[in-house]
Amino acid sequence: NTYVAIMAGGIGSRFWPASREERPKQFLDIMGAGQSLIRQTFERFRKLCPPSNIFVVTNKQYAALVKAQIPELTDNQILTEPSRNNTAPCIAYTAFKLQALNPEANLIVAPSDHIIAKEEAFLKALQQGLAFTRQNDALLTLGITPTRPDTGYGYIEVDAQSRVEEGQVLKVASFREKPGLATAEQYLAAGHYFWNAGIFIWRASALLNAFQAHAPEIHRILGEGIPVYNTDAEQAFIDKAYPTTPSISVDYAIMEQSSQVYTLPADIGWSDLGTWASLHAESPKDEDGNAVQGGQAYLEDCWNNLIRAPKDKQVVIGGLEDFIIVDEGGVLLIWPKSREQEIKGVVASLSGK
Ligand code: GDD
Ligand code: MG
Repeated sequence: NTYVAIMAGGIGSRFWPASREERPKQFLDIMGAGQSLIRQTFERFRKLCPPSNIFVVTNKQYAALVKAQIPELTDNQILTEPSRNNTAPCIAYTAFKLQALNPEANLIVAPSDHIIAKEEAFLKALQQGLAFTRQNDALLTLGITPTRPDTGYGYIEVDAQSRVEEGQVLKVASFREKPGLATAEQYLAAGHYFWNAGIFIWRASALLNAFQAHAPEIHRILGEGIPVYNTDAEQAFIDKAYPTTPSISVDYAIMEQSSQVYTLPADIGWSDLGTWASLHAESPKDEDGNAVQGGQAYLEDCWNNLIRAPKDKQVVIGGLEDFIIVDEGGVLLIWPKSREQEIKGVVASLSGK
């Protein structure tokens, strides 16, 4: 009864200019690992369940990219959205479909763009989580011990007295998606908060009950009955219904609202390769903390920068600290790391959206 749904419809705009709307970062080999992030994600889950139980949910625009990078998937395993409505409708669609295919479906929903260095620990945590959600009407998410006041993540509060033991599921006291910096600093200092890894485990039925309670509009629109045994009819239904759902992430729509949220703290070598600073954190660096990727760099008095340039480009920089320098695809980006969350907005205004 174990299913996996990989979400791959984001445009990764915080990773601009490497990540482009036509080819977002999940389809790129951003770490130089020899495989795109989504292919790595698929390989990882293949160790948990047969490929026939792995689904990818993405925008129509990327269906061909998914097929090319994961030829093991049948058309029925690639769910395509006609519009960008964020993760709540995407997850509801998946849950309705899988529940129709198997009323007992126990489902892992995961992003397509994460790095997981400790694969064995990861697979073990998933097994522990699946065992828990099989028995409980729980919305379970893997929890990561935070290391910096990152404002790009969801924060999970657990009881201040709770002891963290390996494999132990904790009840979540509150969930706060992308807090401001001052709040994130407070959470980090408090010590009883985790980051939401964005890797969720739940039975489709438990999740759909939560949608009914907290996002009734999405539940009503997609719950009319997806014709799951006929790919054409399914697509016709989705093409019509999906764009009318509210655009919201599952974190705001469900995780912040529900009292059924649990977390399984897991030490899995996790990194959301969500932004340039996270890539900097994961990359090899020189003794001054500069990560240089491509390009022939001459640096003087430079600390903790990320520098990416074409192989043959000579890059000369002096007196620079904590910056992102990316020369890629005809764009030169120079941006302070501390303000990287703004890149998303800049990309939107540049493209006039
Ligand atoms: N199919 C589909 N449709 N996928 C989508 C859509 C969509 O409309 N929007 C985003 N995705 C995919 C992205 O490609 C990514 O794999 C995943 O869903 C998560 O979306 P992000 O846009 O990367 O979310 P985030 O990083 O800002 O925040 C989420 O992840 C954090 C950890 O990485 C939240 O769950 C946070 O709470 C969490 O801490
Ligand atoms: Mg992300």
